[in-house]
Amino acid sequence: MTKKKILNPFREFSVNLKGDLQRYFATGFRKAQKKINKPKIIFETFLFKAGFHAVFLYRFSYLFYRLGLSWIAWLIQRFSVMVTGAEIEYNAEIAKGMLIAHPVGIVIGRGTKIGERFTCYQNVTFGARHLDPKRIFDFPAVGKEVTVFAGAVVVGGCKLGDGAVVGANAVVLSDVPAKHIAVGIPAKNKPLKGEVAY
Ligand SMILES: CC(C)(COP(=O)(O)OP(=O)(O)OC[C@H]1O[C@@H](n2cnc3c(N)ncnc32)[C@H](O)[C@@H]1OP(=O)(O)O)[C@@H](O)C(=O)NCCC(=O)NCCS
Repeated sequence: MTKKKILNPFREFSVNLKGDLQRYFATGFRKAQKKINKPKIIFETFLFKAGFHAVFLYRFSYLFYRLGLSWIAWLIQRFSVMVTGAEIEYNAEIAKGMLIAHPVGIVIGRGTKIGERFTCYQNVTFGARHLDPKRIFDFPAVGKEVTVFAGAVVVGGCKLGDGAVVGANAVVLSDVPAKHIAVGIPAKNKPLKGEVAY
């Protein structure tokens, strides 16, 4: 293995994790606080934020996957399921700035591609729509700054545009245009009226 092939995954890991941490510093709760104590926030995030534990363990497993050590990646993924309740497969591709509020019940399948500043709540599923061998590799592709609320299911090869929002308990089977909200079963798209706070 060349030096570059070893160093690149580490660089990627630190850039992505830095982006993730920044999201945890700027949540709605934090913005509501009058005084921001950065060391205290870092301490609290690492120790008490279950959502961050899921993000961190996913990043760590992806690092080993990129280094070609898939079995270690898989072990970390199993550990993460046990301690956080989230199953983010080590070979899903998620860009920097991911924020998970509550990790329980989140399943993000292996072929899912997700852009920067993704926000995800509990019980969200990203996966294949059909389980027959021909279509089992059709996974969603998610743009930048997408928010997916509690209980949503996004399946198949659908695309979620930049700034799209998926409402609680929606089942998304087709594309969601940028700056649209998808709600209901099967989800229907409506233009976003304002900004959705997370
Ligand atoms: C995404 C969300 C924040 C949008 O809220 P909103 O302010 O109602 O958004 P909008 O007003 O733009 O809604 C657009 C339309 O979709 C409907 N809608 C919104 N969320 C819906 C949902 N989850 N299911 C079905 N319809 C929904 C609204 O009634 C509205 O319909 P209308 O145009 O016929 O009036 C909200 O739908 C949601 O899912 N909240 C759940 C948050 C959550 O998961 N909290 C857990 C924290 S631990």
